[in-house]
Amino acid sequence: MSVRAGREFLAIPGPTTVPDEVLRAMHRPAVDIYSGPLLALTDSLLKDIARVFNTKGRAYIYISNGHGAWEASLTNVLSKGDRILVLESGRFAVGWGENARRMGVEVEILKGDMRRAVRPAEVEARLKADSRKANGGGTIKAILVAQIDTASGVVNDIPAIAQAIRAAGHDALLMVDAVASLGCMPFDMDAWGVDVAMSGSQKGLMAPPGLGFVAANDRAREIHKTAGLRTPYWDWTDREGDQHYQKYAGTPPEHLLFGVRQAIDMLFAEGMDNVFRRHALLAEAVRRAIGAWAEGQAISFNIIEPGERCDTVTPVLIGGGHDAEALRAYCNQKCGVILGHGIGDLSGKAFRIAHMGHVNAPMILGTLSVIEVALNALGIPHGKGGAQAAIDWLGEQVEA
Ligand SMILES: Cc1ncc(COP(=O)(O)O)c(C=O)c1O
Repeated sequence: MSVRAGREFLAIPGPTTVPDEVLRAMHRPAVDIYSGPLLALTDSLLKDIARVFNTKGRAYIYISNGHGAWEASLTNVLSKGDRILVLESGRFAVGWGENARRMGVEVEILKGDMRRAVRPAEVEARLKADSRKANGGGTIKAILVAQIDTASGVVNDIPAIAQAIRAAGHDALLMVDAVASLGCMPFDMDAWGVDVAMSGSQKGLMAPPGLGFVAANDRAREIHKTAGLRTPYWDWTDREGDQHYQKYAGTPPEHLLFGVRQAIDMLFAEGMDNVFRRHALLAEAVRRAIGAWAEGQAISFNIIEPGERCDTVTPVLIGGGHDAEALRAYCNQKCGVILGHGIGDLSGKAFRIAHMGHVNAPMILGTLSVIEVALNALGIPHGKGGAQAAIDWLGEQVEA
């Protein structure tokens, strides 16, 4: 017997729930790609994607997922043999760095781990040593970091890391992966001093997978001029050409553009500050529930420091020989809630609750309640009242 008929809840950390309005915006005939409204649509999106990144620099739209946007950002500013520093705090910055290594870049990893954020003081110390070794300037050309790491659930303090780079007097480019954070929490590219940022359409931006976004400031675009890894498809200079066709290095992904236009309109209509606040409130509701469950000893947070837990996805560890995959299977097959699985070092040891993009209180409270049903049904020891703790939190915070 199951109680899963009805609307399925997708609580994986991307792709996220696509709003009906976005689906409807895509449900239309194809249009001309050389003239007419599509040209204005591209202009509006390039402008508004830069606005979402908070930069006066340029934005680029790729037909790609996040991996493509990773490659786009690397090819445009690096040359074979360049050295870069990757700040580890989970899986994703390391994965980005691995791609750079395969492209001929020398990659050093500033060791971190799955359970904590990057320490800005360690970044500063490493960069100071590099500047000394090179008599000023430094040999490290770029620093790669994820604002939120979707595997560990950590949020890194990007302004503090940028400040650490400045404090070290180092001129490496700061490159930030905002795939799991853009449109969910503040990203202030220019004010923070981020040189290159990248993201994708399928998480906070509430559209289907298929679009990669990159933003670059003037410093990055200057370095781009001499970058040796440039290739035709990703090349910023080509994409800055006058022809509409050049903006996508080929046929524009029309329907994805219709969709992401609608999604960004929805975010702007809600107001970015409200969007961020909604994410923060729902994330804390999730954390309240997990905090209660953790009293039973088998359940715990992956990220140890409460202040380093991000507002878009929360990995939950299951110990005591209990099976995270059995819990996921129960939630999915019996109750219609699809949770994320643990990845990287957390594979088989954790499940992930996503709370990003088009999410509201019933989706989160429903998801938490179903997890509690599963904990009971599977006999996984847990403190009682997790869903109630989330309800109490929202009741206190969301005023009548
Ligand atoms: C933080 C982060 N960076 C990069 C990626 C890679 O994106 P994609 O799977 O779209 O290639 C992901 C995917 O989940 C991610 O969470």
